[in-house]
Amino acid sequence: MRILGIESSCDETAAAVVEDGRRVLSSMVASQLDTHGKYGGVVPELASREHLRAIVPVVRSALEQARADLRHLDAIAVTYGPGLVGSLLVGMTYAKSLSFATGVPLIAVNHIEGHIHAVVLEAGDAVEYPALALVVSGGHTHLFEVRAGFTYRLLGKTRDDAAGEAYDKVAKLLGYGYPGGPIIDKLALRGDAQAVRFTLAKMKGNALDFSFSGLKTAVLRWVEQHDMAGEIAARRALGNSADIEQLLAATPQRTLDLLASFQKTVIDELLRRAIASAEQIEARSLIISGGVACNSGLREAALREPLPYPVFFPGPGLSTDNAAMIAAAAFPKLLRREFVDFSLRAQAGLALA
Ligand code: KG4
Ligand code: ZN
Repeated sequence: MRILGIESSCDETAAAVVEDGRRVLSSMVASQLDTHGKYGGVVPELASREHLRAIVPVVRSALEQARADLRHLDAIAVTYGPGLVGSLLVGMTYAKSLSFATGVPLIAVNHIEGHIHAVVLEAGDAVEYPALALVVSGGHTHLFEVRAGFTYRLLGKTRDDAAGEAYDKVAKLLGYGYPGGPIIDKLALRGDAQAVRFTLAKMKGNALDFSFSGLKTAVLRWVEQHDMAGEIAARRALGNSADIEQLLAATPQRTLDLLASFQKTVIDELLRRAIASAEQIEARSLIISGGVACNSGLREAALREPLPYPVFFPGPGLSTDNAAMIAAAAFPKLLRREFVDFSLRAQAGLALA
């Protein structure tokens, strides 16, 4: 059974064809990094316009690469939230139109559920349930219990910034380009993670919730105390297209140490709570997914932990936003014939559980 997935919730226009929820026949992603890079973050209005430009060619090439005939698909799956409403609307309107024109049924997919399926797509039956899923991206830092049959229970979430957002904001503050996560990840490898000690406030209430805004403020305070205006201005002048060698050359050791310490603090926070919640639900697998799951330090640290269950990360190209994960998440819904009609609305703040 073949599903066409369409994803446009943020700043990637993506389409993919996935067979039986497991086999990726094609996966196209048109990134808008060049558009948003100079603003240091996603500009919603520009994102919608870019989606409009990209949606038709992206879907067309996903179908062509998969050698799939639109009319013979078993379903069209589309992300309906959470995300930017103007962005979601482009993918949804196009998906509805295709469904209307061809009679192929429509399936609505939650973007966060997509991120979880980015792992299930590849690991399949190796994932045992209940699983603990840490979904960590630019928009989310959430812990879910995933039960067999794909039902979810929220165990903890960020109360302010998402982890990826903290990466992006710290990068921007220090004069690096957007997105900051991959840049800090690479630079942190050259720094001493023990150099700066960040003490994070204790959380009141749910001990499995996260908070990253205090860490961002702590970095800001450190910057203010260390006379960094000159080096930050020099990096900003390099622009968003600077390569990693140029950024390294423009980054003194002291700043590399700051970045390594920031990254270590984020990773420790993520893993500590993920492991605590996995214990709480007696998890049989740990899934770490979303854009920040690309982070090399997080991957290493998670795989180094002596845990009584396996840890799964998405493969290359499946951590950050893509449509293969949306088509994969739709497969169990197709088996249950969970179709939606054209009254489907975009839901910016859609929750998974
Ligand atoms: O999942 P995604 O593509 O979009 C959202 O749903 O948000 O995630 C993008 C986020 C950005 O904040 C980006 O900085 C972060 O993932 N990211 C990383 C890395 N690669 C991407 N963060 C840390 N280390 C990385 N290697
Ligand atoms: Zn995402």
